[in-house]
Amino acid sequence: MSILKKINEELKQKLESIGYKVDNITLLPSNRKDLGDFQINDAMNLAKIYKKSPVEIAKEIVECLKKDPKYTNINIAGPGFINLTLSEEFLTEELNKISTDIHYNIDKPEFKKVIIDFGGANVAKCLHVGHLRSANLGEALKRLARLMGYEVLGDAHLGDYGRPLGLVVLEIKKMYPKLEYFNKDYTGDFSEIDLPITNDDLEKIYPLASIKSKEDEAYLEEAREITAKIQNHERGYYDLWKKVVEISKSEIKKVYDTINVDYDLWLGESDSVEYFDELNKIFEEKHLLTDSDGAKIILLEEETDKAPMPPLLFIKSNGSISYETTDLATILQRKKEYDPDEIWYCVDGRQELHFDQVFRAARYANLVDEKVKLEFIGFGTMNGKDGKPFKTRDGGIMTLKDLIKLVNEETIKRINLENISEEEKKEIALKVAIACLKYSDFIPHRSTDYIFELDKFADLEGKTGSYILYSTIRMKSLLAKSSGIKQEKMHSINGETEKEIGLILLNLPSVLSKTLETKSLNDLTDYIFKLTSAYNKFYSENKILIEENQEKRESWLVLTSLVYKTNLLILDVLGIEVPDKM
Ligand code: ARG
Repeated sequence: MSILKKINEELKQKLESIGYKVDNITLLPSNRKDLGDFQINDAMNLAKIYKKSPVEIAKEIVECLKKDPKYTNINIAGPGFINLTLSEEFLTEELNKISTDIHYNIDKPEFKKVIIDFGGANVAKCLHVGHLRSANLGEALKRLARLMGYEVLGDAHLGDYGRPLGLVVLEIKKMYPKLEYFNKDYTGDFSEIDLPITNDDLEKIYPLASIKSKEDEAYLEEAREITAKIQNHERGYYDLWKKVVEISKSEIKKVYDTINVDYDLWLGESDSVEYFDELNKIFEEKHLLTDSDGAKIILLEEETDKAPMPPLLFIKSNGSISYETTDLATILQRKKEYDPDEIWYCVDGRQELHFDQVFRAARYANLVDEKVKLEFIGFGTMNGKDGKPFKTRDGGIMTLKDLIKLVNEETIKRINLENISEEEKKEIALKVAIACLKYSDFIPHRSTDYIFELDKFADLEGKTGSYILYSTIRMKSLLAKSSGIKQEKMHSINGETEKEIGLILLNLPSVLSKTLETKSLNDLTDYIFKLTSAYNKFYSENKILIEENQEKRESWLVLTSLVYKTNLLILDVLGIEVPDKM
């Protein structure tokens, strides 16, 4: 249990010992630092319950707290607000405990098994900026949840099903009609066939096929037929589709790798299809399907709805299944194969209605137990300076690869290291670029749209990834320089800045818990900025390595290493890698 939580538990018992029963009592950070570091406001409530004056109760509490040496400077303000400060001895001792085990001060919630559906890249299409947000958010939540003791499986849930794939295969057929994949008489092994197509080609093929299908009805019809062939696992077409998925997946993996995103499960929409028959049976047996012009739909409207709730299109009139249905089948699949307590979906906020529909239908059919939580974790869009979705310089759609290239160009300009090879410089610039991109993406609450400022996101001053990285690297090199010096423990806290750092460190668990609850990383980016800024103030106030008082120097080094370790822990949650230098 975290330090402050332990204190709260202890306070509750102290109150009980003087005759007051409360469900919980909290030591709150004070907003009047001149009166104390913390405040306790519970006397007001107790006054109502016990019909006494709050000041009288506050006085009794103060008397009781005075017997505990961890509290100093205890006083009452106004009608019964208690102010107090944690003693420097206590703070020092607790910081030493965190320093030996960083997990000492982290609260572990009740164990859960969670599947996080994030990334959502689409096969044979470019990853775009929206996919970046989903991947960043999901990866960070995965890491955070693991830190807090959850068992987590991250699933890429690739968009590998439906008409886009039919279009791509059709266009390949138009380009290379003689490929064996389209030869009915070919009986050989398709894996031996050299497909003259790279991922770059695929990224051009889909937009082209998409335009053609809009202009040419016959082309569209052919794409429909091919989609059906793929879905019926017809030899040749199905094999080519698998090949396309493979090519595309290896490229998708590369891009995710660059942004430190990784998956336990590389499943796709198509993997859910084997559960479709069972799904269909469940919905049929529960009489949840309604005929509608040859299609089958699920009616979802309820009397208490405040917004329109359209029916879910379960099977289209042409017999194919919808995006909603693959999501329902995926829920069934996840239930059967992994049996999670919760499923989190990190998806663009504009898909909220889709998930409302899917979740409601899943509930109607009891696809998962009532207590299994299905949570939509929507996010806003990243916009350019004009407030519109981020575009390339010539006005095209910004792919994720374009964006990474662009931010990398920015950070290369800012790396001033001497005596390093061009190669190394590039490597560092890329790490810094990704760090800045991710950090700036986490600053606003996930649900808000925000403007990405290319000229500011990597500044060395202010709330940026560069600032955090630069400061963290500086801590590391200070520690490296101090390697011969004894640094076992902190002996004391010397002054306000050090105390401020200590108090910020004490507060980490509540920030982590809140982040796990809101599933937005903004509080954590705030926190690391505050901690780093406080540390930098301390750094500029003291000459750590040449301090003559040995105990002071040792305390300062231990404090430095504690902040360094905390920064690494948070950066790891954010999926940000720290270069050796920058
Ligand atoms: N592939 C989808 C897209 O690009 C996102 C998938 C989100 N996850 C899900 N289970 N539907 O819009």
